[in-house]
Amino acid sequence: MNEVIQNILNRRSIRIYSEEQIKQEDLDLILQAGMFAPSACNFQSWHFTVIQNKEIIKILNDKSKNELKKSDNENFKKFSDDEQFNIFYNASTIIVVSGDKKSIAPEIDCAAATENIMLAAESIGIGTCWIGLITPLFKSEQSEEILKLLQIPENYEPYYAITLGYKKGENPKPQPRRDNVINYIR
Ligand SMILES: Cc1cc2nc3c(=O)[nH]c(=O)nc-3n(C[C@H](O)[C@H](O)[C@H](O)COP(=O)(O)O)c2cc1C
Repeated sequence: MNEVIQNILNRRSIRIYSEEQIKQEDLDLILQAGMFAPSACNFQSWHFTVIQNKEIIKILNDKSKNELKKSDNENFKKFSDDEQFNIFYNASTIIVVSGDKKSIAPEIDCAAATENIMLAAESIGIGTCWIGLITPLFKSEQSEEILKLLQIPENYEPYYAITLGYKKGENPKPQPRRDNVINYIR
């Protein structure tokens, strides 16, 4: 099997990280991979906010957990009640992914870029996890304050975050794949 396919199959969501900060040259490569994703009409509508400031990450974690408390989803509520739970798994780097609201399909462009980022990171031994648990905060009444705090450019909307860090240990085993998801018309 070639290395690209192997990398896609090996990537897993990583939720335990070492404290060591990832190297800038690794981060540059990973972000470049994100910027080379496909995008509708080549709008390249993504914006990446790289956060390595522990205080800001803590504010985002605390505020997100407060928002999750208000959720109708029982699992989300459980996360917010668990004091030890950190929505970013204590990763030393997080990337908030935002899309240009004036473009054609910003959320889809951003999802393509996010997968590129996660695969690029995996290929150089850096673990990642897609963090949708921050989305309720971005959609809350605090959103204006968060836009300012994160210096999100005007007309961009933050969607979610990605955690990045060196892995502690091996990748977890993959969950079984659902079948009956392929249909041929020939
Ligand atoms: C849109 C989206 C949101 C996600 N949000 C979270 C999250 O907030 N926290 C988390 O631990 N994992 C999150 N995940 C990761 C999924 O749980 C994970 O991809 C899935 O269980 C499959 O595992 P794998 O990535 O190891 O293959 C998210 C994934 C996606 C695509």
